[in-house]
Amino acid sequence: MISSFKPPRRTILEPGPSDVSQRVSEAMAKPTIGRLDPYSVGMMDEIKSLLQYAFHTDNELTFAVSASGSAGMECCFAKLVDPGDTVIVCQNGVFGSRMKENFERFGGLAIMVQDDWGRAADESKLEAALKANPEAVLVAFVHAETSTGVQSDAEKLVRLAHDHNCLTIVDTVTSLGGRQSM
Ligand SMILES: Cc1ncc(COP(=O)(O)O)c(C=O)c1O
Repeated sequence: MISSFKPPRRTILEPGPSDVSQRVSEAMAKPTIGRLDPYSVGMMDEIKSLLQYAFHTDNELTFAVSASGSAGMECCFAKLVDPGDTVIVCQNGVFGSRMKENFERFGGLAIMVQDDWGRAADESKLEAALKANPEAVLVAFVHAETSTGVQSDAEKLVRLAHDHNCLTIVDTVTSLGGRQSM
């Protein structure tokens, strides 16, 4: 049995785990309330509007999944992929291969658009894959590939997908709210 828990204070400089600010630690020490408590419902509404702000969307169906990044990604695949769907995955590192596994687990056929590890996803390759697979319904890619630190151009990739009537799943686990360094 652990009789005391006194972790050392560290400065963590890696994609995750990350340092937690004092404000967050203090919030987590607050009393527990039930999920149907009116206070909880109000708080979820506030979280929803803050997420809408972060994602630049007014979509009513914006909600937080209180789980790890992997569970959040899996939730997207489970909801958006039907068995037999063709999906296109841009892969330039380890997390792209996880997307392929997820698609296949839900019965999708994953067309892989490969780029070398350490290079951003190539928009012209995605465009070629979209033209070659007009039945594709979805495009997925990792915005910031943690395995190499490379960022792909989400705006261009998403626009291409939408131009071909595809939805997108974008893994922004290590990029959302971050700032690009030049
Ligand atoms: C790009 C990317 N996607 C997904 C994940 C998985 O997130 P989690 O460890 O919270 O499940 C990570 C974790 O480092 C990541 O860097």
